[in-house]
Amino acid sequence: MTINKEKIYADTPGKKNIIHLNNAGASLMTQQVLDAQIAHLKLEASIGGYEAAAHRKPEIDAVYSSVAKLINADPSEIAIVENATVGWAMAFYAIDFAPGDRILTVEAEYVSNYVAYLHMVREKGVKVEVIPSNKDGNLELDMLENMIDDKVKLISATHVPTNSGLVNPVSKLGAIARKYNILFLVDACQSAGQIPLDVEEIGCDMLSATSRKYLRGPRGVGFLYVRKSVTGKLHPPIIDLHSAKWKSATEYELADDARKFENWENNYAAKLGFGVAVDYALDIGIEDIKARIDELANYLRRRLQRIPAINIHAISENQCGIVTFAVQGQKASYLVNELRKKKINTSVSTPDSTLLDATKNKLPDLIRASVHYYNDEEELDRFVEQLNRLIT
Ligand SMILES: Cc1ncc(COP(=O)(O)O)c(C=O)c1O
Repeated sequence: MTINKEKIYADTPGKKNIIHLNNAGASLMTQQVLDAQIAHLKLEASIGGYEAAAHRKPEIDAVYSSVAKLINADPSEIAIVENATVGWAMAFYAIDFAPGDRILTVEAEYVSNYVAYLHMVREKGVKVEVIPSNKDGNLELDMLENMIDDKVKLISATHVPTNSGLVNPVSKLGAIARKYNILFLVDACQSAGQIPLDVEEIGCDMLSATSRKYLRGPRGVGFLYVRKSVTGKLHPPIIDLHSAKWKSATEYELADDARKFENWENNYAAKLGFGVAVDYALDIGIEDIKARIDELANYLRRRLQRIPAINIHAISENQCGIVTFAVQGQKASYLVNELRKKKINTSVSTPDSTLLDATKNKLPDLIRASVHYYNDEEELDRFVEQLNRLIT
């Protein structure tokens, strides 16, 4: 373990006020991320918004390089957008679906992605099919190979679902997508910042994520990666003066890189803060971040397992920093509210956020405690102690 706990705790002002176990919702920002945003807002107020952006152009350009480094891509393959959903949707709706095309996805798919598939079913007559998982929650990759034919237009998978702690084997899905030359879209919203991501190793064509979750950046910003070789085949659903050039009364030309998935206006303070957050994570090292998160999440699971009234919802052995559980006879929303009064942040994960998995496993509302590397064992002990007091 090489993370410098003293520095990390000192850089996290919120740690003094609360026990924050809602990192899968939005993590606590570092002082550096906060300072970068405030400095830019002050600059905008003192010299003007457009002028401030011009003044900080080198730093703004550097955000693309930082995000590219995080996922082993080229800066020209990165679009910085409002959130993960916008990034994902700009890629998904840019695909030229035709009636009868098939989309293959996973059981624990995120609600916003799945409703987009259903929308495409209605609008374009595509089919959406779910890759089966075995009783341990692991994808049946052999069955996936049997599902493939020349109608499969897209494999689309959430890497880490919003609940259950599951980590889907995206590199294995990517190997199959590559083998059959099928587009592969990865929702890395919950994995970016907690698990190393390498788009070459994953073998994806598109990948989306957000700033505010495990990357500890500001709200209202996210990114989309699109592989250079695929960009030219995609036509974004929304274009403007930034993503396209107006050439004549009848013509426009799309940008030839990932800028074509962006639009012109954006929150530069958030974008700069996001860059600082990505650099902070890179400085610590994502492998070390993952190791500490795993250590803390395993510690928490062990402590919760000792409480008879608690059922941990873990659909696979392959787990990350997200721990979800139900308490017999108690409402998740009541417990989350009571914990918040004690300055402990958790969240409620409702069945409709991953409806297929929730229906199959008959899941109730769950309490989600998501740990980050800046949490510690003492905080987890205090959380379990307070929870125990509320339920006994
Ligand atoms: C798996 C997953 N994908 C996508 C999203 C959407 O991210 P955003 O709110 O940044 O659009 C979330 C948000 O919780 C998520 O958990």
